[in-house]
This record gives sequence, structure tokens and C-alpha cells, in this order.
Amino acid sequence: MKDNIVWQEHIVDKHLRSNMKKQQPCLLWFTGLSGSGKSTIAGAVEQKLADRMQHTYLLDGDNVRHGLCKDLGFSSADRVENIRRIGEVAKLMVDSGLIVLSAFISPFAENRRMVRELFKEDEFIEIYINTPLSECEKRDPKGLYQKSRDGLIKDFTGIDSPYEAPKIPEITINNFDISINDAADQVIVYLQRHGFLKTHPRADS
Ligand code: ADX
Repeated sequence: MKDNIVWQEHIVDKHLRSNMKKQQPCLLWFTGLSGSGKSTIAGAVEQKLADRMQHTYLLDGDNVRHGLCKDLGFSSADRVENIRRIGEVAKLMVDSGLIVLSAFISPFAENRRMVRELFKEDEFIEIYINTPLSECEKRDPKGLYQKSRDGLIKDFTGIDSPYEAPKIPEITINNFDISINDAADQVIVYLQRHGFLKTHPRADS
């Protein structure tokens, strides 16, 4: 399929684009069960980054499934394709100099590893939102666990479809009994320690 296709290098490259934005691009990959708090924490991290004048984009599972991935369902094959597409889109966005945040269940370890492989070593930051299934089911913000238990949805992650927790993620957030703000701060502290955030929050924030 790749015959006769040659990669083109352009003068305006990732380095230049990142310099113009005065930041070091990366992908913050949030993974965890439905209802674990991925989107909420990612949104809070994005807000904190905006306060620091960082340029970001948040790719969110439910939103992406309305467009780019609207032809995909929740079979294992469709989930793998979903994550493959997100990985490629995120790569383009990182190449554009952005700090990208993604919030997808991404239940399969091998599938997440494939995305990691698309990036340089320090560019891919896996963040495991570790919330017990019982807690996610209690929260059930979209009523989907109940529907799954009632047999109205099949292949629901954690119920009749597996979730493979990351073994060595860069960050693990135990998201019970902590505030969203404290959870988001764990990511900000990681970024500060690893040299991603050299600027300070806006004076008025
Ligand atoms: S993934 O497995 O392919 O990474 P993704 O993060 O895009 O999943 O979508 C998960 C969201 O879709 C959930 O938060 C939930 O709102 C909704 N959803 C609908 N059906 C399912 C299902 N069978 N399993 C998991 N999530 C589902």
C-alpha cells in the first residue's frame, strides 16, 4: 500500500512550531474505565495549562465517536481501530506543537503500546486513572453500567469486555477520595518535574 509514496520534509517543522508556541509538545494519554474520571481530570489539566498560556487540544472519547470514529462500535476490532486513529491524529497534533490530552478507555495494553511507539520516548505520557469498578459503577454518570447490567448494552468495559490496566504508566492517579483539582495537580507536577512547563501561571489566574 505504501509503494510510490514518499514522506515529504517541510521547512516549517515541529521544532519551529513548538518554538513559536514557546512550549514542548507531548501527548497526555489518559486511560481508565468508563466513569473513572478521565475526561473530567483531563479537562481540569487542560484548564491549568491554559492558565499557563500553553497551547492544548483535548481529544475526548465520546466526542471523537461523533465524528472521526462514528463508524466504529465497541467490538475489540473497532476499539483497536478507534485507538489507532486517535494515535495518528494525536501524532499530527503533537507535530503541530500542541500539548495534546486524550481521554479514551483504551482497554488493551498492546493497543496503547502501539500508540506509544508513534512518539519519541519522553513525548508519550500514559496516565492511568485508577478508580475501582465498584466506584465507577456507583457513579454511573451516563447510566450505562445499569444498562449493561440490564443486558441492554453488550461488550461494556469492566462488565463483559476486558480492561487491561497499565503496568508501568508514567502517572497513576487513584481517583477516589481526592478532589479533581488535586488529581489534575499530580499531572501538572509531573510536567513541571520533567521540564515541560517552564512558564508560570498567568498573573491574573
Ligand atoms: S474505547 O474502548 O474505544 O477506548 P472510548 O473511550 O472511545 O472507548 O469510548 C468510551 C465511551 O463510550 C464511554 O465513556 C461510554 O460513554 C460510551 N460507551 C458506549 N458503549 C460502550 C461500551 N460497550 N463499552 C464502553 N463504553 C461505551
